[in-house]
Amino acid sequence: MSGKRTLLDLSPREATAAREIALRYGNRADALLEILHDLQEDLGFVPEAALPALAKALNLSRAEVHGVVSFYHDFRREPAGRHVIKVCQAEACQSMRGTELSAMIERYLQVKLGQTTADGAITVEAVYCLGNCALAPAIMVDDRLVGRVDPAKFEKIVAECRS
Ligand code: FES
Repeated sequence: MSGKRTLLDLSPREATAAREIALRYGNRADALLEILHDLQEDLGFVPEAALPALAKALNLSRAEVHGVVSFYHDFRREPAGRHVIKVCQAEACQSMRGTELSAMIERYLQVKLGQTTADGAITVEAVYCLGNCALAPAIMVDDRLVGRVDPAKFEKIVAECRS
């Protein structure tokens, strides 16, 4: 598929959502973050093809829109798996073997942070402090906080996600 898709080329659901959301905010450039959050809420991710059209609607450059989407780790560039595991990368967790845990997670799931496993079961994402520093290293499995994560605990969580 060509990389030059526009908003008009999106699936009807994506196009309708993008148009409605931009309009809801009066096509205001200062509402870009809210628009992107709402788009992700509706679609589960921020489609690449929506960005040029959003830039046009909001009278921003494509680089400005891309910059915002790239800067904020909250924005998914592709649909998430059935479960989302957020892995804390902030200092307290790093000091409690969080770096090793992240490396183990990437090896075990055979993906990098920000990617989804081949079976579509799990998306792993980096996050910067879950407010669970006392129980570092911490992760969040969907809406559930899990602390003092070690490889055995993580493997059990993965088995639950895949069951
Ligand atoms: S640093 Fe990881 S939960 Fe706060």
